Amino acid sequence: MSVALTVGNLSKSFSPDLPPAVDDVSFVAAPGEIIVLLGPSGCGKTTTLRMVAGLEQPTQGLIRINDQAVYESATGALVAPQHRQIGMVFQSYAVWPHMTVFENVAYPLRRRRLTKMELRDRVTDTLKLVGLEDYAGRSVVALSGGQMQRVALARALVYQPRIVLLDEPLSNLDAKLRIRLRDDLRAIIKQLGLTALYVTHDQEEAVVIGDRIGVMRDGKLLQMSAAVDLYNNPADLFVANFTGVTNTLSGRMVNRNGVYGRVNLDGSTAHILAKVPEALRDGEAVLVGLRPENIMLSEPTAAGSAPQQFAGKIMRRRFHGGQSVYTVALLGTKLDVVELGTAPRFAPDADVLVGIPPDLCWAFPAAGLDAVAEEYV
Ligand SMILES: Nc1ncnc2c1ncn2[C@@H]1O[C@H](COP(=O)(O)OP(=O)(O)OP(=O)(O)O)[C@@H](O)[C@H]1O
Ligand SMILES: [Mg+2]
Repeated sequence: MSVALTVGNLSKSFSPDLPPAVDDVSFVAAPGEIIVLLGPSGCGKTTTLRMVAGLEQPTQGLIRINDQAVYESATGALVAPQHRQIGMVFQSYAVWPHMTVFENVAYPLRRRRLTKMELRDRVTDTLKLVGLEDYAGRSVVALSGGQMQRVALARALVYQPRIVLLDEPLSNLDAKLRIRLRDDLRAIIKQLGLTALYVTHDQEEAVVIGDRIGVMRDGKLLQMSAAVDLYNNPADLFVANFTGVTNTLSGRMVNRNGVYGRVNLDGSTAHILAKVPEALRDGEAVLVGLRPENIMLSEPTAAGSAPQQFAGKIMRRRFHGGQSVYTVALLGTKLDVVELGTAPRFAPDADVLVGIPPDLCWAFPAAGLDAVAEEYV
């Protein structure tokens, strides 16, 4: 049966002299939901996971599985890790090298009172689930990295946990294997209907695996949303940058029209329309974020074919095979633009029209970015 996981105002300080490793984090994972925690090194992802598992004692807050508080600072509730029914998979393979695949997966069951037959059935079923049924008798040292990680997953799943926690389980694997295994991981978790917390610092992995993604920075959860919302409505410039908004233009908000603001770019008389947060005031300094893949280049003759076009010039072109990356000069500044396809349409020095869709560019206050982030938590 799937369970809900509630994390409420969870904090962890390792030392009074240091800022908290996890700072007032709250979210609810619905039964069967896969939540990804995404963020740079040291932002508190592993610490959050370890507190949910019961391996790290929080400083404050609440962790609830369905209606049961497994930790609550207000009441002193505390459930030991082995009674939380949580399975964990780590970055390192954490398999026992002197055992076969079967024995590795059977190990967590040895302490349970299962008959030989029950044990064999459970292990065989779990090995099937992770695609290793033909490897049961193999020594684990004779496996590839991806297969070893499947063994680790099978071992976490074999005692039928209610929640599975995965801490960068794919980061030791090569790129091709990572892509294959991440699809498999999601399918397996979904097939079992498990509630999952998945930690990564890889944005693409986060998008493929997660139902919702929480972006963390300095112990704080800045935004938790479905990937498509995160990408199209980032709460602040950090979230935007961390999910691939690599262009930022500085300017000043002139005035507002609903959710859009007119921004005068520094060093130019031009204005561009961008989405603006509610709290942004006229005259405030802003940074406008834009994704390279959301900017559209066209021939100068195509004027008027799209909203908000500006004249620009190609400064540089980098051919990446499946796509080309242009550096384009416009409005006294430069932007990176990605164009899909193997046949680049523009050459260096070409004049182009640069289309900037107002609903896909966001103006963030240049000052007090953290304050803005907190409004959205
Ligand atoms: N046992 C500990 N004692 C003291 N400080 C710790 C301990 N464990 C973690 N920290 C600190 O807490 C912060 C968060 O660490 P954490 O391991 O949760 O980060 P992370 O997001 O998992 O990073 P990474 O992506 O590098 O794994 C870091 O500043 C780290 O140095
Ligand atoms: Mg970590």
